[in-house]
This record gives sequence, structure tokens and C-alpha cells, in this order.
Amino acid sequence: MTETIIIVGAGHAAGQAAASLRQKGFSGRLIMIGDEPYVPYQRPPLSKAFLAGELELERLFFKPENFWPKHDVETMFSTRVKEIDRKRKTITLDNSEIIAYNKLILATGSRVRELHIPGHTLKGVHYLRGIDDVLAIQSAFKKGARLVIVGGGYIGLEVAAVGRKNGLDVTVMETESRVMNRVVATEISQFFQNMHAEEGVKLELGRRVQELQGDKNGQLTEVACMDGFTVPADICIIGIGIIPNIELAEAADILCSDGIIVDEHCRTLDEDIYAIGDCTRHPNPILGRHLRLESVHNAIEQGKTAAAAICGTPVAYAQVPWFWSDQYNVKLQITGLTEGYDQFVMRGDPASRSFAAFYLQDGKLLAVDAINSPREFMLGKKLITAGAKFTPEILADMEQDFKTLATAALEVAKST
Ligand code: APR
Repeated sequence: MTETIIIVGAGHAAGQAAASLRQKGFSGRLIMIGDEPYVPYQRPPLSKAFLAGELELERLFFKPENFWPKHDVETMFSTRVKEIDRKRKTITLDNSEIIAYNKLILATGSRVRELHIPGHTLKGVHYLRGIDDVLAIQSAFKKGARLVIVGGGYIGLEVAAVGRKNGLDVTVMETESRVMNRVVATEISQFFQNMHAEEGVKLELGRRVQELQGDKNGQLTEVACMDGFTVPADICIIGIGIIPNIELAEAADILCSDGIIVDEHCRTLDEDIYAIGDCTRHPNPILGRHLRLESVHNAIEQGKTAAAAICGTPVAYAQVPWFWSDQYNVKLQITGLTEGYDQFVMRGDPASRSFAAFYLQDGKLLAVDAINSPREFMLGKKLITAGAKFTPEILADMEQDFKTLATAALEVAKST
């Protein structure tokens, strides 16, 4: 009998797993099932170049559309898997079709956290997660339109930057006292706040949106906050975080805890079921703990890891996480995770829009935020992986060449 592998999901992680399975010589039946109507595509450009109208739809695709039939990957789009029967080793589709598997890969990703306040279904209120979301936003995303963004995180700030570039009147409402609070230190939030203010964005920090008001046609007209503050709006984009899609796994009694629990080979507690990408909680041996990551890098690497394990050439997943964001002429690249840092070191002048921030714990490098500083980012990844240590005063000294400092720190880390 031919072996069958089913991949649930058709995002970045799913696409990578399917491509890697074929590349590694898997010749059985390979099925990829996704509920969106598109071949696997890249999400990061959605809130950047694609929203700005600078990128064609096809350029988003992870592989050209004909890649999948060419590699004998059976694709089912606009299709949901509604149930997994682990005993029978079958899945059931939303049209009640049942398909048997030998191995199952869950690449179910994540979905937007919704804001259930009065008026949230008004015309002009949007989330931004998929291609269809952006297509729906684009017609109203015009010069002079009043855009209110709820959430000052990655999505909110990237959308704000595109909005200003396209001549919209932009207000960002953030409940916390600073933007990007989840991922960066106060100093970096301040840099982004200054930059957005300079670019003409109105930042409303510490504001909790209570209601979205509309006219008699059901069109959004105003965003109202708990403290009575109101802003007129034609369009509202909500970016208040994402939540992992774990319900399918949970219903099949696969262990989950804010993510599907997998090992370093992306295996769940069921040896025939793997999980990859945004939906997983996985061990990271470099950081010494379990993580759930919202990143393309993680999706790709876990896709490769699951394929390698299934094909009998397992390689444990052990990499330092990294992320990026593009806003105006600034590329922010983050590597590592800041949790537990006790020292924060800046190298360079934020006013120049090119500098780097280092997060240390007992001198050991935990994370780097590189702003238009690709060298600090690239070396940062290596340094964190090696467990390199720094003296904060020396690291902050711009008279010292960073590459020389990094090379010395890597040497010491290697020898200890
Ligand atoms: N009103 C205003 N702001 C809110 C509210 C609310 N009710 N609830 C949460 N926030 C703020 C948070 O304080 C945070 O600053 O929304 C922001 C959400 O930021 P992120 O967690 O970065 O989430 P988001 O911007 O939606 O990005 C989600 O998409 O770009 C990808 O993978 C990337 O992880 C990222 C994901």
C-alpha cells in the first residue's frame, strides 16, 4: 500500500513541509488541505508592500502555482478538516469526506484575536491576516481617508507606516503605555513612537477602545474609547495579536498548552502526528525552555524538521529565533528573546535611524534589536547561539569595532 501523508493547513509551514518531503524522496501520496482559497503564500508582505499596492498577488506565493501539481502534491483549498480520528488514522473534511493517513502533519497556524465590542461588524472594520483581508481593505485605503488602528504591535505599526505613505490620516490606539510592548524594551518603543510621530501618525497610548460607531448604512464613522476620547474614522484595522489554532488537535486529545506540544522533531504525543509552525509549543535547547513562536523562520525550519523526521533522517530543531518588521525606511531585525534580561546596551544613535540594542543576562547575550544594522543582527544570531558574553561598557563604546568585539566574544565562548 502507498503511504499517505496529509498536511492540515496550507500556509508557510505546510508548504515547506510538502516541498521538503518531496525533496527528501518521499514518493507516496501527499495531500495538503487549507481553508483559504490560495496556494501557500507569505504573510509578512501583506501588511507592507502588498497593502501598499507595490506587490502583485503571485509574488506572494511561496512557490509558483504549478509547483504543487508538478511535484505530485494533491491540494485541497477552501477546505477545512473538521475531525481527526487517531484510532482509525483518518481525517474528516467539512464535506464529510473521510481520508486515511499514515502520517499527519498539523500546520494549522494561528488566527487573529478578535475585539468583540459594540460595532465590530460595521462596514470599514477589518483585521489583517490573509490575502482576502488586504483585498477588502485596499478599496478604502485611499489618500485622505481617516484610518484608526487598534493595537500598536507589529501589524498596527506596519499598517500605520503604509497608511502615511499612501497619504491617509492615521491614528494608532494602544492600550499599553508604549508600542511594541510585547517584544522590545522601553527605549526601542520610544524610538518607534518618535519615528511614527515624525511621520505624522497620531499615537494614542493608554487608550482602550470601547465602541465602534456607525451611520444608518452600517458604515463606521467613529472610534470611541473608555475614557470618552473619540476619533472620527472611515476605516479601522484591528491588530491586537494572534492565537494558535489548536482546537482540532485538542479535540483529538493531543496535548496542548497555548500551542500543540511537540518535541524537537515536531512530533506530538502521537507518533504518527506532527505539528509545525505558529500552532506549536516546542523545546528550544539553546534557550533552555519551551516556546511558541509567531515567525516565518520557525514555520520554515519546523517544516523541514518534520519532513526530515518522517523521511528517517531526523535532525533536532535547535535555532535562535528571529523576526523582522519594515516601517518607513527602517528595517527592524530581532534575534533571540529578551525574557530575563538584566542589562540593556545601546550602540549607536537612534536619531540616525541606524543602531542596535543588546539585551544581556549576567553578561550573556540574550537578544539583539538591530535597526538598519544587518551586521549586528547577523553576528548577534551567532553570538547568542554560542552563549557569548560581553562587558556592557565595552559593548556600548562606539570606538570599538563591533566585528572585532564579536569575534573576540565568540573565541572566548568557544573555549569555555
Ligand atoms: N486595544 C488596543 N490595543 C490592544 C488591545 C486593545 N483592546 N489589545 C491588545 N492591544 C495591543 C497590545 O498591547 C499590543 O501592543 O495590540 C498590540 C498587538 O501587538 P502584537 O502582539 O505584535 O500583535 P499583532 O500586531 O496583531 O501581530 C500579530 O502578526 O506580524 C505578525 O507574526 C507577527 O506576531 C505577529 C502577528
